[in-house]
Amino acid sequence: MRSKGGGPAGARRVVYVCQECGYESAKWLGRCPACEAWNTLVEEPVERHPTSAGGTRVPGVAPTPITEVALDHEDRIEIGIDEVDRVLGGGLVPGSLVLISGDPGIGKSTLVLQIAQHVAVERPVLYVSGEESIRQTKMRAARLGVNSSRLLVLAETDLEAIKSHVAQVTPHLVIVDSIQTVYRPDLPAAPGSVGQIRECTGDLLRLAKSEGGPAILVVGHVTKEGAIAGPRVLEHMVDTVLYFEGERHHAYRLLRVTKNRFGSTNEIGIFSMSGRGLVEVADPSALFLSERPVDAPGSVVVCAMEGSRPLLLEVQALVTRTPFGLPRRTAAGVDLNRMVLLLAVLEKRAGLHLMNSDVYVSVAGGVRADEPAVDLGVALAVASSHRERPADPATVVVGEVGLGGEVRAVSRIASRVAEAGKLGFRRMILPRASLAGVEDPGGVELIGTADIREALNLLLG
Ligand code: TYD
Ligand code: MG
Repeated sequence: MRSKGGGPAGARRVVYVCQECGYESAKWLGRCPACEAWNTLVEEPVERHPTSAGGTRVPGVAPTPITEVALDHEDRIEIGIDEVDRVLGGGLVPGSLVLISGDPGIGKSTLVLQIAQHVAVERPVLYVSGEESIRQTKMRAARLGVNSSRLLVLAETDLEAIKSHVAQVTPHLVIVDSIQTVYRPDLPAAPGSVGQIRECTGDLLRLAKSEGGPAILVVGHVTKEGAIAGPRVLEHMVDTVLYFEGERHHAYRLLRVTKNRFGSTNEIGIFSMSGRGLVEVADPSALFLSERPVDAPGSVVVCAMEGSRPLLLEVQALVTRTPFGLPRRTAAGVDLNRMVLLLAVLEKRAGLHLMNSDVYVSVAGGVRADEPAVDLGVALAVASSHRERPADPATVVVGEVGLGGEVRAVSRIASRVAEAGKLGFRRMILPRASLAGVEDPGGVELIGTADIREALNLLLG
């Protein structure tokens, strides 16, 4: 074994590794020089095997002309759960390593077991649980109606053992639940430590990328701060990073993709948690609008694009008089800075006096609407609450708002109009410049506007 830095062979050497970014230092530091986080360096022994990332020991791989690279490896494994397939960009890529993370109890194990079931209809799948016994997994599986004999379960945490089972079973999909529980016995660090997680992920990566290797789905826990527990490098190593999120008190769950080497990162999948596992939500707009109050001031329906899909969302605003001191501004689901900017535009260009008011804005259902096209809806919701005047409940609002109070064109207007029409909305207030983009409004009356003051009058009279 090679010891790092050419030190005396056999001497125990350690290195200090940042848990956030993976930076390595020979001595302990209070603050990581790379990512500037405090108290993130952790002692780890240096006993690493040379890896392909380290340089020289990759046998038998010669550079290949790109024209001669066969693409048959790219054939995707369609899972058969549309919401997951779309988020992945059309299914699982064989030989890829996918990380799926989320809060404890959010439903990760349930989701991966359902994925396993679907894939196992046609292909062998190995589900490795380091957290539950196979009896516990079976109990969950029974609830979910999982019944394929091609789905093999294994309760194991020793990575060497897992690898030898994979070699025997040759599954097309391997699921490891979770990366924090597996360990390599030859490393002295404890399971779940930065070193173990990084080395195990590296091993799984090599397994996936080996000739004819399986697709591997790894479950990862998140810390209280919402980051995937373990070094940041974990996210850099894998091909795809999925986050499974949702509010504990709501039944629905969102599957987001923050990194994807094989597809876009805009798509989201929407599920609801039922007594028999996760169910795809076929019509998310209807779900998100289902609890909308009728004739309440401060409620405006907007249409945001989530990836390739238009989604109708309810923006709620509450404007109250500031009891004392500085006015408060709180935003959930929209960017706070963006909201503050819109308040300034309302104040300056539409004559609303908000200086002595607390303003709260939220997107109902806990969805994030980080798209400029929701600007106008946010502004009008604030104005509606400020004036105590409800907006027309059959109207959808889209438009980006500029600093001059102008309403700017938005992308994909035709699909937004179509979605509004599908859910029975009769009117849409939209940027005048976007009118030309709609060939067939399909029963939705389109009202173009170029200015926030004009839009205010259109919606609130
Ligand atoms: P789980 O998949 O164990 O979460 P994670 O792996 O992310 O920690 O999901 C746990 C929760 O899901 C638990 O509170 C029970 C609930 N659940 C259902 O509501 N219906 C079901 O069919 C299943 C299997 C779980
Ligand atoms: Mg779990």
